[in-house]
Amino acid sequence: MEKRIHSKKTHNLTYRHYLYHFKWPLVGFIFLLSFLTFIQMNLTTIFVSNTIQEQQQIEQFNRNVIYPIDILNNNNSVNINYYFLEKDKLKFIDDTHAVNKKQKIILPLIKDQSTSKSYLILEYTHVFGQPRFCSHTNEQIFGKICPYTNCEYTCDQTHENDTHVLLMHKRDLNYKKLNSMKRNFEQIWLLWHDEPNENSPQINQFKFNWTITYRTSAEASIGAYGMTIVKENPWSIEQFNSWIDEQFIKRHNQAVWFVSNCQPQKRLKKFHSLRRFYSIAAFGKCISSNESFSLNAQSQSDSKCHRQSSCEKNYLTKSKFYLAFESQTCTDYITEKLWRTLALGAIPIVSGPERENFMRIAPPHSFIHIDDYTSDKQLAQTLNFIATNRSLYEKYHHWRRYYDVYHEAKDLDPYRFCELCYRLNTNKQRIWYENINDWFLDKC
Ligand SMILES: *[C@@H]1O[C@H](CO)[C@@H](O)[C@H](O)[C@H]1NC(C)=O
Ligand SMILES: *[C@@H]1O[C@H](CO)[C@@H](O)[C@H](O)[C@H]1NC(C)=O
Ligand SMILES: *[C@@H]1O[C@H](CO)[C@@H](O)[C@H](O)[C@H]1NC(C)=O
Ligand SMILES: *[C@@H]1O[C@H](CO)[C@@H](O)[C@H](O)[C@H]1NC(C)=O
Ligand SMILES: *[C@@H]1O[C@H](CO)[C@@H](O)[C@H](O)[C@H]1NC(C)=O
Repeated sequence: MEKRIHSKKTHNLTYRHYLYHFKWPLVGFIFLLSFLTFIQMNLTTIFVSNTIQEQQQIEQFNRNVIYPIDILNNNNSVNINYYFLEKDKLKFIDDTHAVNKKQKIILPLIKDQSTSKSYLILEYTHVFGQPRFCSHTNEQIFGKICPYTNCEYTCDQTHENDTHVLLMHKRDLNYKKLNSMKRNFEQIWLLWHDEPNENSPQINQFKFNWTITYRTSAEASIGAYGMTIVKENPWSIEQFNSWIDEQFIKRHNQAVWFVSNCQPQKRLKKFHSLRRFYSIAAFGKCISSNESFSLNAQSQSDSKCHRQSSCEKNYLTKSKFYLAFESQTCTDYITEKLWRTLALGAIPIVSGPERENFMRIAPPHSFIHIDDYTSDKQLAQTLNFIATNRSLYEKYHHWRRYYDVYHEAKDLDPYRFCELCYRLNTNKQRIWYENINDWFLDKC
């Protein structure tokens, strides 16, 4: 007992003595420590929390997407292979549905061919009545950065019996010729078709093996109408802020719509009901001149404006929103309407395929889906909030710091054909479409 008290006392004395002896260095040290902690905290709030918040914001909207999302870890050296692998995860899900619905047959491919060979693709039909890639070099077709370099493309029809792939464009098919063909079942019949709504059951008599089209379940689907790519040099926060400042002021609180096809009626109805609550400048042959401008829509000069004209572009770059309404609800049918809007700096208001379809390929938090709103009034109110509140407006453009979009064929085709070459090199399945018509019409 005594020993313990004694030892405690001794310890206390030593401790106090020690403190007393080093009091000034200690005060200095504590001061320095507080100072460092303060600096550290500030730096952390400025840099780390900002990045974490952005990361969370981006990841929150990025389950099941094709493009890379770990861009905030300064990892923007992304290989195309990344897109192929992510796409294949989603393809697997969609293929399972297609197989269950007996639209597609997928079996293991047993082949005893060496893996290091090259693959020949024959342009077997024209594409919209014209030869498509016949005078292109391999690099132009498959792209400069395609990691697979062993695919060749030809239009020389004498190769019809010795190519791996016969590429056939749906609009240019000659059914009679196909019917009389003696088929080599190791040769892949590849159907190219970018439209969903051509109900033609007679196409089911031909069992195509692969497709190149907009559906994720297709053997080549990346970049059918557009794609989200990683910016080589991300925008700094200053660059982003000055872009937002400029656009927020320059663009009117209104939506633009160009429509050349009066079908479906549902789409026109939506426009008619929405224009009662929100400013829309609308053009196209289905819009009568007294409907071109609704409410207090700005810059009412041209009531005749053509799609993809400079006049249209002018409206698109002066308005905050664009009605990127698809003509169909078909699965994955997302066209240049979305991509062009994004490329020209407006926020697309989308309808047609489900939100999940858009989420997979559109940049994070980049669009407004009309299915998310129970009434046009509610949608109009939201549009008003976004157009008048800078911090809300900014949220829909945040992706622009890290991503760009491609929407022109010249940029997209190399991705499409590189994916085809990837598929040829990695495929381990025997595939054919048992009911390709149904497959195209999914959710149409
Ligand atoms: C960068 O991303 C690629 C693909 O997303 C990944 O394979 C690679 O490991 C990443 N590198 C680093 C340093 O995180
Ligand atoms: C391809 O094979 C078919 C029959 O097997 C034959 O009729 C045709 O002439 C061949 N084509 C070429 C270019 O050799
Ligand atoms: C536009 O004019 C047509 C007749 O020309 C009329 O039926 C329609 O109701 C008018 N629309 C509006 C919004 O005034
Ligand atoms: C703008 O929106 C934000 C939410 O993003 C909200 O916190 C803020 O109060 C809004 N500002 C105004 C002026 O309404
Ligand atoms: C291509 O489809 C046909 C038609 O059913 C099938 O018999 C053949 O095995 C398929 N070939 C490949 C390589 O997938």
